[in-house]
This record gives sequence, structure tokens and C-alpha cells, in this order.
Amino acid sequence: MLLYHNPVMLHECMEGLSIKPDGVYVDVTYGSGGHSREILHRLNETGKLIAFDQDEDALNNEINDPRLTLVHQNFSYITNFCRFYGHAHVDGILADLGVSSHQLDMAEKGFSTRFDGVLDMRMSQKNERTAADIVNNYEKEELVRIFRQYGEIDHAPKVATAIINQRSENPIETTTELVNTILPYAPRMRENKFTAQVFQALRIEVNQELEVLKELLRQSAELLKPEGRLVVMSYHSLEDRLVKNFMRAGNFEGVVEKDFYGNPQTPFKLVVRKPVTASEEEITANNRARSAKLRIAEKIEFNNKSAK
Ligand SMILES: C[S@@+](CC[C@H](N)C(=O)[O-])C[C@H]1O[C@@H](n2cnc3c(N)ncnc32)[C@H](O)[C@@H]1O
Repeated sequence: MLLYHNPVMLHECMEGLSIKPDGVYVDVTYGSGGHSREILHRLNETGKLIAFDQDEDALNNEINDPRLTLVHQNFSYITNFCRFYGHAHVDGILADLGVSSHQLDMAEKGFSTRFDGVLDMRMSQKNERTAADIVNNYEKEELVRIFRQYGEIDHAPKVATAIINQRSENPIETTTELVNTILPYAPRMRENKFTAQVFQALRIEVNQELEVLKELLRQSAELLKPEGRLVVMSYHSLEDRLVKNFMRAGNFEGVVEKDFYGNPQTPFKLVVRKPVTASEEEITANNRARSAKLRIAEKIEFNNKSAK
């Protein structure tokens, strides 16, 4: 049987959360429950864990433990659900962003350039819009925007034009059809990276990944108790930039605002200045850990300033 998902930087994430045994913790990206299992292991019988996953496949991995509440929802609703379950504030929030190995390995989810599958890319089956809808219906300018912004692709207009020409003959329905359409525009010797960038851009658009991450970060500043920990692991620079700026400044531009007396008005202090990365040993054992960047911040006491 294929492993559902091998948790990345497990030890480093736990160190980052600095778990209080009787605390309330939130794992917003449950997946196979690898990180959640370790959090539960460090909690005593009064500790609590609320976990989120928007993919119903993750529900099959639910750990049978009365201290765990697994919520089948997008983590952008974190505050509402924590309140609903009786926790206005929490001691720590962990996010291990992106898709799981299981999602990547399921051809029918359409996330991977390695398999032939329908061009779906939805993490949540409740989401109505698929990658095929975007590829076959977006105007050229919109395609250019997402390829530029989310894929950081140099020749975005050419790629968009190729897609529009192809779909005027036949709709692009599968991952292979998309790869064949865009491959002629790949820089030589960088074909794999290029197709991965196009897929990344579509995945971000389908799942609105940057918008929901912003929502999570904004809400975390209010939801965490003083000294509560925010621990976020990201796998590409667009996400990491948002996390870095927000932890540093409490906004997505990364500009620290000061009050009349020159005191910085930020909701967090950084626990580590530079992102933590996986050890060579872990990368050798789990290639997915290669691009992971882990950032850790602590909620500052008596700072009631709302995040923008
Ligand atoms: C990288 S995996 C997490 C793996 C997990 N830490 C483990 O140890 O198995 C990311 C998981 O988060 C879920 N996910 C991603 N974005 C989400 C969101 N906005 N709301 C809820 N779940 C999300 C995905 O469906 C996926 O199962």
C-alpha cells in the first residue's frame, strides 16, 4: 500500500508549537494525521486538538481519540469552528500547506504532471470549479495573470494563446492534453519545472490557496492566546512570502507600523529569524521535504491590534 503522507519536519514542528500538555491546539491541514498524532501524543487527558481538512479522503485517516475533533472544512473558517467547539482562543496553530502525497499520487485528482488524469485539482469536492473549467473558459488576460502571478512563468501570454488555440479545436480535459499543449513553450532542458509551474498556477487558482492562507493568518492573530505559537510550513515562495511578511509585520506587505512613541505594532514576535529547513537526512528519505520552509512566531501579549 502506498503511504498516504509522510509528515515533514515532524520534530521541528513540535518544537515550534512548544506544546503545553493541557493546551488547545489546531492542526489546520490534517492529511494523514501525522502531525496531529504527535500533538496528541504530547497532550495530557485535558488537552484538545481541533483539526481541519477540506478533502474528504483525509477523514478516512481519523485517529480514534476523544481529544480530537476533525472538521471537514476549509481552514479559512478556523475561528468560527473553534468557537463552535468552545475555544475562543487557542495555544497553537500548525499549518502544513499544499497537497499531500496521497493527493499528488491519485491520478484522478489531476494534480500531477506524472499521471494521465482528468484536469480536476480540487482539494475539496465541494468546490465547483475545476482546473479544466479554468483552462477552457478563462479569458486570455485571466490566464496570463494566473500563469504570471502564481506560476512565475516568463512567457505567460504565449502559453495562454496556445491553450486558447487548442481549446478552440477541442476542450482540454486531461493532464496529458494540457502538458502536450504547453510543452512546446517550455524552456529547453527545463521542461519538468515549466509544466510543474503551470500546474502550480492552476492549482492555486482552483483552490484560492493564497486567499485562504491570508484569511488563516489574519484570523490566527486574533485566535491565538498571548504566547500562543503559529507554526507554518510552506512549499513555494508565494506562500512563504505571505507567511514571512505577516509574522514579521502583521500585514502582507511586511511593513512594520509604529505607534506615536515608535513602538512596533505587530501581533507576533519571531521565534526563529530564518526559516527552518529539513535536514539532509530527511530530504534523502523524503524528497518532498526538500522545498519545505518552516516559520515560527509567537503571539505578543497585550497586543489587541487587529491585523489588516
Ligand atoms: C501537506 S498535507 C498535510 C499533511 C499532514 N501534515 C500529515 O502529516 O499528514 C496538506 C493537507 O491539507 C489539506 N488542505 C490544504 N489546504 C487546505 C485548506 N485551505 N483547508 C483545509 N484543508 C486544507 C489538504 O487537503 C491536505 O490533506
